[in-house]
Amino acid sequence: MKISTLILAAGQGTRMVSNLPKVMHPLAGKPLIRHAVRTACAVSDEKPVVVVGHGSERVQQEMGSEVEFVFQHEQLGTAHAVMAAEETMRERGGMLLVFYADMPLITPRTLRSLAECMQTDQTSICMLTVELDDPHGFGRVIRDPSGKVIEIVEEAQATPAQREIRELNAGVYCFDAGWLWDALHQIRISSKGEYYLTDIVAVATSSGREVKAIRLDDPDELVGINNRIHLAEAEKIMRRRINTAWMLQGVTMVNPETCYIDADVIIGKDTVLFPNTFLRGKTEIGEACLIGPNAIIESCKIANGCKVIASVMEGAQMDEGSEIGPFGHLRKGAHLGEGAHMGNFGEMKNSYLGPHSKMGHFSYVGDAQIAENVNIGAGTITCNYDGVRKNRTEIGAGAFIGSDTMLVAPLKIGEGAKTGAGAVVTHDVPPGTVVVGVPARPLKKGKEEVER
Ligand code: UD1
Ligand code: MG
Repeated sequence: MKISTLILAAGQGTRMVSNLPKVMHPLAGKPLIRHAVRTACAVSDEKPVVVVGHGSERVQQEMGSEVEFVFQHEQLGTAHAVMAAEETMRERGGMLLVFYADMPLITPRTLRSLAECMQTDQTSICMLTVELDDPHGFGRVIRDPSGKVIEIVEEAQATPAQREIRELNAGVYCFDAGWLWDALHQIRISSKGEYYLTDIVAVATSSGREVKAIRLDDPDELVGINNRIHLAEAEKIMRRRINTAWMLQGVTMVNPETCYIDADVIIGKDTVLFPNTFLRGKTEIGEACLIGPNAIIESCKIANGCKVIASVMEGAQMDEGSEIGPFGHLRKGAHLGEGAHMGNFGEMKNSYLGPHSKMGHFSYVGDAQIAENVNIGAGTITCNYDGVRKNRTEIGAGAFIGSDTMLVAPLKIGEGAKTGAGAVVTHDVPPGTVVVGVPARPLKKGKEEVER
């Protein structure tokens, strides 16, 4: 039977105390809504439908055409939110999985088990329940003496006896789509002025239908995010899941508690992550790399056998066997060629450091193209910004840039050229030429030694 998915994400999330809509708060580096959509896509080939309302522009901007949006203009409760999708989804038939975007730890496996239960038992509703010691904030599942589910009572409406119940509504449902839409209209407004989706259970049972419930063994999946304490709990669980998965795929973590890996990161086997390593965004790391301690890597591509020690990188690339650190900063567009080394207090932006070139100490390289086997001396700076434009520097293969050289761009240093220590280079240097001084001039014939 066909499965469609509906994600409720219109609530304001008042308890987050935030200008950001709740579902846009990041978990393991990406907004809650993305986690929900990923789960939906894992169980259904149909585009997920997302109900948005509060902060809808932000959510639309994030998800674009990856999902279908429906609008709930006034947030009058979870049943009201589902009704907002009626026009879009009514004709689809089959099964409809409904869940809340604020429960990012639900797994595709759990959703599938609900759909399977629907298929075998041919009921109108199959819902997920969980037993927790602390039931605070959850709807209570009421069963009759024979054990059949008869209704869900929200905490605010529950009697003291009902509040003692520990079987709780997880907020994940599979509906017979042919039955759901008319039934929804039978839900009455609650004393709190909301239409509760949870009342659909009583609608079903009062018309003689059986409601199936599956109990979830792992309560971690149900951490619902209503405030920032929940967000931190979910973050911890999600990170543990991610780390466990990578360790099982051959990644060593010296202390997994201090490795923070975002959901979309990829890591090759035999790579070792040392403590305090942050791998963010769409970072890809190859095999047999040594990363950390103290590495912050955001959306970077790192090939096999690289080393990153105590450094910060964003939007950068490292080719095989290249190294950075300690204390390097690779900014957007920085690229270390094969076997290149960049270390001690260096910064690179929008530049390529060619194969086996070295830039070991206190340098800034911006908007530069550096060929292979170049030595960038301590304290070298590309003066790339003239106050108006960013200008480029090109350095040919085998060039030797003396300590403390200022390369005033635009500038070309030819192959095998050399600059003396402290040179301020304002004009292009032909291949094989040695320049010294301020401003730098070619060294006179016979004076071939260059200060280092
Ligand atoms: C809900 C359930 C409760 C369950 C709990 C599990 C109801 C009435 N209660 O309570 O039984 O135990 O989840 O976490 O369903 N939303 C909308 N439009 C609205 C209201 C909410 O789209 O008008 C969305 C929210 O964005 C959120 C989700 O629905 O993603 C759940 O709403 P929330 O207010 O968090 O419900 P809970 O109080 O957690
Ligand atoms: Mg909630």
